[in-house]
Amino acid sequence: MAVFQLLLGFVPQMLLILFFLLFIAFLGFCLYIKHIHMKYDHIPGPPRDSFLFGHSPTILKTMLNDKNLHDKFLEWSETYGLVYRVNALHYVFLIVTCPEATKEILMNQKYPKDKFTYKKISHLFGQRFLGNGLVTAHEHEVWYKQRRVMDPAFNNLYLRGLMGTFNERAEILMDKLVDVADNNTKANMLHHFNCITLDVIAKVAFGMELDLLKNSSPLPKAIETCLKGMVFYIRDFFFQFNPKNRRFIKEVREACRLLRTTGAQWIQRRKTAMQNGEDVPKDILTQIIKTAATEENMTEEDEEFMLDNFVTFFIAGQETTANQLAFCVMELGRHPEILEKVRKEVDDVIGMKQDISYDDLGKLVYLSQVLKETLRIYPTAPGTSRQIEEDMGIDGVHIPGGISCIFDSYVSGRLERFFKDPLKFDPDRFHPDAPKPYYCYYPFSLGPRSCLGKNFAQMEAKVVMAKLLQRFDFSLVPGQTFDIQDTGSLRPKSGVICSIKHRNYKNK
Ligand code: HEM
Repeated sequence: MAVFQLLLGFVPQMLLILFFLLFIAFLGFCLYIKHIHMKYDHIPGPPRDSFLFGHSPTILKTMLNDKNLHDKFLEWSETYGLVYRVNALHYVFLIVTCPEATKEILMNQKYPKDKFTYKKISHLFGQRFLGNGLVTAHEHEVWYKQRRVMDPAFNNLYLRGLMGTFNERAEILMDKLVDVADNNTKANMLHHFNCITLDVIAKVAFGMELDLLKNSSPLPKAIETCLKGMVFYIRDFFFQFNPKNRRFIKEVREACRLLRTTGAQWIQRRKTAMQNGEDVPKDILTQIIKTAATEENMTEEDEEFMLDNFVTFFIAGQETTANQLAFCVMELGRHPEILEKVRKEVDDVIGMKQDISYDDLGKLVYLSQVLKETLRIYPTAPGTSRQIEEDMGIDGVHIPGGISCIFDSYVSGRLERFFKDPLKFDPDRFHPDAPKPYYCYYPFSLGPRSCLGKNFAQMEAKVVMAKLLQRFDFSLVPGQTFDIQDTGSLRPKSGVICSIKHRNYKNK
């Protein structure tokens, strides 16, 4: 008892010492921030909201007002030029749109992905998400080992073999739209495209049938929740400490777990089939299993590694393409003359045929232009970032090493200095004879870490769009917004609601 009373007597002094230590730590942190400011403040940039938080308050306000953060970056790029600085606490990152620097940094494997962002999406609120998979792997060797194994699943020969599935799944969507047209109801195109792209990736990558236009599944919602959580986790340092967000954080963790347990079940099913000597497709799942160690000595970490890539492909392979298709329909709905031109091309190339062939895709030149222009204004995965360890110069500005550079394809695609009248939807910018944009158009990123599924995605998008144009007249239901929702990926806020009518298509 006496000892307890003695200890109690020390409490005020201990609190005082603790307070003093905290004060010293805070002072040290402030000095460190000051040092960072002195190191990087010669780089142009908007005025900071505060010494401590830098530009975070503006970033948070933009997010909380449900605005697109990339519009803020675009506005700053127009004012502060081809390279400018953004501060948040002791972090500094650069927004780079200088084509020469984009070429130098993105095309060169010596600049790794930036640790801050990619570590954050490796685990969301402590729950493993993309882990150390293809998108997030930081170490070159770790990434390269996976990419080498995955490449065969994306070579041209293999992709040609997917035409059957692309056609078959797109046909299911067309049947659904027949119902919409017959019943004179409206279609939420984004929802329909989401179902179909998820069906495609589940089938061709993992050999699973989801049939989401008929069956309900918790997977689309889980993907949406993870992406939403990802944005808050990356952009708001204090999000996880706010008790108000606890429920949402729990939902995000559960959504990550659901994707990973689904992956574990599908992988197990495939491994059992392999062990039983069954004929299994040489698809992405088979390659994912190959990226891990051999069956006999598979560690828990190897299992986690496979799940990382399962979730990576599930997410990378679906959302971006669905959003591109929805934006494409939105822009065609707003530009009847372009719609007419692309439809004529589809009629000339495909006519009344039901199955679209790989060779047909090559002939749909104007449709390619339309899809490219869609990704210029609406890059659905709007950028990438790299770590710069050594000093360098960007657009005449000295950049001290130890900094992250963000390459924002939304900003580049909308800058007047690169694209005249940038908000005008004009597929002729991508006419085969037009000059190629010089390192200012990169919706699939560039260089060694560019998108592995680019050709896959554009084949799928072309098949779906060609069939849609061949069979239906569609028009946008009036009064909907054309705003963009920034959920890490970019998607049309309205969902793109359309009225659908049959064309004079007779094939059956
Ligand atoms: C319109 C559709 C798509 C767009 C706009 C897109 C865009 C991108 C971008 C910008 C990156 C770089 C990400 C970063 O650096 O953080 C990327 C990487 C990647 N994408 Fe896509 N993507 C699309 C479709 C697909 C599809 C369909 C798949 C798979 C079937 C896929 C698989 C991947 C993979 C595996 C990576 C990581 C590549 C690596 O680092 O080696 N993507 N994608």
